Amino acid sequence: MREVYAERGFEMGGLVLARNFGVVTWGSILAMLIVNVVTAVPLPPPDVAEYCNSEERCCMPRPYVGQPAHQFYPDPELPIRIRRPVHLLTDAEVARLERAYQLQKDLPDSDPRSFTNQAKLHCLYCDSGIYYPDNPWPLEIHNGWFFFPWHRMFLYFHERILAKLLDDDTFALPFWNWDNQTPEEPYANVLPISYAKSGSPLWNQQRNKCAEPPLIIDLNTIGGCTAKSPSVLRTENDRIMYTQVVSGAMSPQLFYGMPYRYGDAGGHGPGTFEDNPHGTVHLWVGNPDSESGMFDDMGNFGRAARDPIFYAHHSNVDRIWTVWNTLPGEQRKAPVDPDFLDARFTFFDENGDLIIVNVSQTLDNELLRFRYEQMPTGWVTNGQLPGEENSVPLCYRGNPTKTRKLIADTPYFKPSMVLHTVPLTFKVQRPRRRPEVGVEVLELSGLSLIPALQAHWEAFLFLPNGNNKTTVSCPEFIGTFNYVAHVGQALFNRERRWRVALGPKIMALGKENYTDVVITLAQFGPNIQPITFERAVVVFDTDGVE
Ligand code: C2O
Repeated sequence: MREVYAERGFEMGGLVLARNFGVVTWGSILAMLIVNVVTAVPLPPPDVAEYCNSEERCCMPRPYVGQPAHQFYPDPELPIRIRRPVHLLTDAEVARLERAYQLQKDLPDSDPRSFTNQAKLHCLYCDSGIYYPDNPWPLEIHNGWFFFPWHRMFLYFHERILAKLLDDDTFALPFWNWDNQTPEEPYANVLPISYAKSGSPLWNQQRNKCAEPPLIIDLNTIGGCTAKSPSVLRTENDRIMYTQVVSGAMSPQLFYGMPYRYGDAGGHGPGTFEDNPHGTVHLWVGNPDSESGMFDDMGNFGRAARDPIFYAHHSNVDRIWTVWNTLPGEQRKAPVDPDFLDARFTFFDENGDLIIVNVSQTLDNELLRFRYEQMPTGWVTNGQLPGEENSVPLCYRGNPTKTRKLIADTPYFKPSMVLHTVPLTFKVQRPRRRPEVGVEVLELSGLSLIPALQAHWEAFLFLPNGNNKTTVSCPEFIGTFNYVAHVGQALFNRERRWRVALGPKIMALGKENYTDVVITLAQFGPNIQPITFERAVVVFDTDGVE
C-alpha cells in the first residue's frame, strides 16, 4: 500500500503534490496559494469525466452520451416520499426494494446509473478521483462541511434512479435505524435481516462476520468483533449519539465540519457526527480480514458504496441531520458562508444525464420532497428519561478540594505534546471573559499523524485516569477522533483540527466555576502511533449567532 502512495505524490516543504496533474511549477503553486489566501471561491461543478484520475479505476463510462450538464431544480410535482426504517418494512416493501436493486445491478456498465457506476461515483468523489485542472489536490468530500449536502444529493439521485427503474415515483429509500437502541424485536440496531440474506440483491459478501444479525452494533468500534454485552452496547451507543450529535455539536462548524474552498486542500476536519458514528458504522460493517487490509467494502472509502447497505446507512445519516436541525440551540443551523452555499457538484440523474446541484439547494428535505418516518430518539436525552439528564454518576468522583488539587497537579498544554501508548493529560485555560452567546469549545490543532495509518482517540474532561478501556458511558467522555486513511490521499498530510464542544459537559459535570479544564486523551485502535499536537485552546464558537 505504502508504495502506491509514494508513487502517487511527492512532498515539497510540507506541501504534498499529486504528480498526475501535469507539470507543477513553483509559479503555479504560488498562484494557487495566493488564490487561496486572497480570493476564496466556492467549488465549481467538477467535470466528473474530464477531471477523472482514479487510482481505484472509478472513472465514469465514456463517451458520455447524455444531455449537456444542466442545473438541478427540485420537482414540485413529485410525490412526497416517506423513507421508512428497514427493520419495519413490510414484505411487499422489501420485495420492491430487492426488485429495484436487481434492476439496477442488471444495467450495463456503459450506463452511469448502474449499481457498479453508482459505487464508482461515490469512489470518485470520496477517494481522490477528481482533480480540478489547476489544483494539485483531489476534490475531498469527506472531513469537512460538504459531507452532509453531497451525500444527501448522491442519495437523492440514487433513489430517483431506482424509482425510475421501478417506474414508481413513490419509491423511497429505507433507512437503517442503527441509532435506535429500543430492546424490542425486530431490532433496529442490528444489520437488517433483509440485507443479510445471502443471494439477495441487498446482500454483500465483503462484510464483518460480527456484524451479522442478531449482533448489536457498536457505534464506538474500530472494526471487527466486540466482547461488550448487549446492554452495555445499548447504553454506550446512546451516549455516543448524545455526545457526538447533541452535546458535542452545537454549532454549524462543530456539526458540519471545517470549511473547504476552491484551491484549498480540503479535509481539514470532519464534523463530530461524520467522524463517529457515521465512520464507525462503516468500519463495523466492513470485513476486517479483507485483502486490502482496509475493511472492504463498507470500511473503505473507495469501495463502501459497493455494499447496498451503504445507501440505507447514509439514509439514516441524512435522517439524523434532519433530527439535529430540530434540536434546541440557536446555533443549530447550516453555515451561511457563500463558499458553502454556492459550491456545486455534478451527479447523474435518473435519465443518466449530468446534473449540477448547488449546496444551497440541498438544505431543505421538504423541497426535495422526502421525509423520514418518526422513530424513537432516546439518545437526544442521553438515553435517559426526560428531566433526568444529569443523573449519570461521574466516573471520577470528586469534591471541590480534590478537583482543585487535580488542576494544580496537571501541567498546562505545551506545543509538541505527544499522545502515544500512554494517555495524555493536560490542562487548558478557559477564556476569562465568557460571552453570553456561543459555545465553549476545545480546539486541538497542528495535529500530525502518520497519514497512511488509522488513528483514533477518546477524549475525557476531568477524568485523569481515563484510558482506552474507559467506557464512553462516563459523563466525562467528550468525544472521539477517528481518522481513516483514503487510498491515494494518504500522503496528503493536511492541516487538521479537532474541535468539540465543552460547554454542555462542563455544566453537566458541575464544573462551571473552575478557570482551567483538565483534558485526557487516550489512543486506541490497531495502529497506535505517536500523534503530536501544536496547539490546544478553549474558545467560544459563535458560528451561527445572529
Ligand atoms: Cu462518502 Cu459514508 O461515505
